[in-house]
Amino acid sequence: AFQVDCRRSGVTIEVGSDQSIVDAVEAAGLGPRYSCLDGVCGTCETAVLEGEPEHRDSILSQDERDAGDTMMICVSRSRSGRLVLDL
Ligand code: FES
Repeated sequence: AFQVDCRRSGVTIEVGSDQSIVDAVEAAGLGPRYSCLDGVCGTCETAVLEGEPEHRDSILSQDERDAGDTMMICVSRSRSGRLVLDL
């Protein structure tokens, strides 16, 4: 599990190993934008303000993965214990 700090909403949530960030954010009452839920459409792309994402999507280039300032929250997770996202 890891923590996601939704900076714009002022909400901090815990993302369990059996759920996605989209699931956890939605369960917290926020309205994340998403479509495919499979890391291929780009609808759920979210800016990463702090922390290190673990990319599992099929969209970002290697440079974008390495930069780590954006992520697809339907499939990607976190390498750090905490991510701060622009949500
Ligand atoms: Fe399509 Fe996340 S919802 S990439």
